[in-house]
Amino acid sequence: MAFPATRMRRLRRTGLLRGMVRETELTPAHLVQPLFVELGTDSRMPIEAMPGIDRLSISHAVEEAGAVHELGVPAVLLFGIPSHKDEQASGAYDEEGVVQLATRAIKEALPEVGVITDVCLCEYTSHGHCGVVREDGQIDNDITLELLAKTAVSQADAGADAVAPSDMMDGRVGALRSQLDAEGHSETPIVAYSAKFASAFYGPFREAADSTPAFGDRRSYQMDPANADEAVREALLDVDEGADIVMVKPALPYLDVVRRVKEATRVPVAAYNVSGEYSMVKAAAAAGQIDERAAVLEALTGIRRAGADIVVTYHAKDAAEWLR
Ligand code: PBG
Repeated sequence: MAFPATRMRRLRRTGLLRGMVRETELTPAHLVQPLFVELGTDSRMPIEAMPGIDRLSISHAVEEAGAVHELGVPAVLLFGIPSHKDEQASGAYDEEGVVQLATRAIKEALPEVGVITDVCLCEYTSHGHCGVVREDGQIDNDITLELLAKTAVSQADAGADAVAPSDMMDGRVGALRSQLDAEGHSETPIVAYSAKFASAFYGPFREAADSTPAFGDRRSYQMDPANADEAVREALLDVDEGADIVMVKPALPYLDVVRRVKEATRVPVAAYNVSGEYSMVKAAAAAGQIDERAAVLEALTGIRRAGADIVVTYHAKDAAEWLR
């Protein structure tokens, strides 16, 4: 039946009707708030490129985790800024490393808050790459796996509810799974950044985490933005290696990938609405060009509609407040 019997506007006439036929739900329960944590006492250092996001000392990270949890956001994703960087990324797997200390502090003070920890070396290496650099300048995949597995175990030891490898080395999900299992953490889930693209949208994060590569770029390990078949293959491989949740990153330029990964894997899918996506919205809103609240809720709904079960976003706290 076509017009005039069919009138699509009938169901758009009132808020009540629109609400009854809304297909996609966005609630704080779908969101994860990333936090940048550094050592030191009682400090909150604004990140210039990311208005509203600060580098937090551990006490403030505990406070912030509690505040977002109060708003219904179940978990935070911790990134550490170590006081010392070296070639072996020793700060990443130090029992007293910043993420390990922050995880313990949050879980002790607020056991109900979910803590997911980033497993990567780039914030801890002096050269800023996500793996160990060989003499010939290449990133050594297999040696890196050992360090990543150590990192994940130390985070699980500290009480992490889940670990999230973001390095894009081959075989890291399997390496993490077997090491976690061997060391008493068979119940710790792995949230794999399965399709992480070599993206220009990580710029503000690299300022925040001070992790810009000192030479070269990440294109020998992160994915080519042009490739979606490959992204699906990465996700399927990660599921085979034991990933519990697979992630696509960034989110907005890759919604087709989110959809395809969801359909191909049928496992819980996360999408990471990254720093550059956040900063663009904040800049346009500050310039009076868009309505921040409407734009953020629309973008997050779009990511959910594409197939993401979980949305990692710097807007989580604000969005949770707006969704109340
Ligand atoms: C690497 C990592 C990065 C992000 C999360 N984990 C940066 C990179 O690959 O350079 C970016 C997140 C963002 O831009 O919000 N450990």
